[in-house]
Amino acid sequence: MKVLLIGGGAREHAIAAALKRNPELELYGAMKNRNPGIMRLCEEVSNHDETDLQRTVDFARRTGVDFAFVGPEAPLAAGAADALEEAGIPCIGPRSALARIESDKEFTRGLLDRHKIPCNLRYRVFDDADEASRYLDDMEGEVAVKPVGLTGGKGVKVMGEQLRDRADAKRYIREVVEGGIGGGRVILEEKALGEEFTLQAFVDGKNVALMPAVQDHKRAFEGDRGHNTGGMGSYSDSDHLLPFLKPGVYEKAGEVVKKTVQALRDETGEDYRGILYGQFMLGRELKLIEFNCRFGDPEAMNVLSIMEGDLGAISEAIIDGSLGQVGFQRKATVCKYVVPEGYGVSPVSGELIHVDEKGIEEAGALLYYAAVNERDGEIYTTTSRSIGVVGVAGSIEEAERVCEEGISHISGAHIYHRRDIGTKELIAEKLERMRRF
Ligand code: GLY
Repeated sequence: MKVLLIGGGAREHAIAAALKRNPELELYGAMKNRNPGIMRLCEEVSNHDETDLQRTVDFARRTGVDFAFVGPEAPLAAGAADALEEAGIPCIGPRSALARIESDKEFTRGLLDRHKIPCNLRYRVFDDADEASRYLDDMEGEVAVKPVGLTGGKGVKVMGEQLRDRADAKRYIREVVEGGIGGGRVILEEKALGEEFTLQAFVDGKNVALMPAVQDHKRAFEGDRGHNTGGMGSYSDSDHLLPFLKPGVYEKAGEVVKKTVQALRDETGEDYRGILYGQFMLGRELKLIEFNCRFGDPEAMNVLSIMEGDLGAISEAIIDGSLGQVGFQRKATVCKYVVPEGYGVSPVSGELIHVDEKGIEEAGALLYYAAVNERDGEIYTTTSRSIGVVGVAGSIEEAERVCEEGISHISGAHIYHRRDIGTKELIAEKLERMRRF
């Protein structure tokens, strides 16, 4: 089996490692950076912009791959699956009309409304900043202000968090509309309170195989403080739930995912083939924060590190519509990202980092390279996340210890990670907050 993997981050390194658990599988890569972990697993790599669909299709044709697996959202929103399928190459990752589940927040909220899918938030969409501001004046409570389109995960701002007050929210509304951020349309949503968690699923259009629940940590600094990032680390528990999830919540979130897959099929007449990522907020009620059309990053590292079975075979089942259940080891995982100082705001890049791969392996941890470049056998940082390290063990506490031991074998100036992710203390705080709902 020959597979093309698109993307060059730690999420894609985890996908590559899971595909290569089948030693017969031949892997080819397309990515903008030079990720040493993925490159080592590939027969050949094309370094190009991942949204350059013509180059991707040409490379896929030349290498004669059986199918493509798309990691990030940007190529999917740009039509990677459409272009590959038109060239006769099946794709794990939805066509652009279905990738709207991530790239068009108005479409997603409307889809949930039209199909009476529970857990939707109250929302309104505007392309006029004055109208949006007047609506905000009439609204009770706080809101989240989001550009309707893709912004690389940096567009969402919430009152009481990134936005101080209504005046600040109005300023940001104007910035989105007049600055054309995410297409220039703005969506105002009621602010959801509680603990966020991620539920990912393999989907073949009809069948849905749910994965263990994961909690990501978006804030840059310990104690969940600082600006939002793409995610600094994440954990999952051995029972595939999370310590703060009340009984029945996982099942309810799973129903939202399954109903959404059916709604997409009913509305577009097309099968959604790939990964569907639901981000939920559990407070007094369960609410859907957003859907993504791909694995989460870092959440992919948690689930793929304990997935049983063969990702190549699961992908083939997604393509031919015969997806069954997918098994996961009854193990806890803790993933932490090593990132450049200033990541998410003004990152220091191009720094040399030393990775003692053998030390990490001896610590029992898993190593996934992210947005780094290998040049002449050395690893250099870029402006984004550098390396994901995962501990897998019988409990979250033990997995956290393994992860920290692994990270102690990475060194360099101007890098850091969040030590608190997966610790007993941070989880106790989350449980305490949940008791207040
Ligand atoms: N961890 C958040 C995301 O992948 O969008």
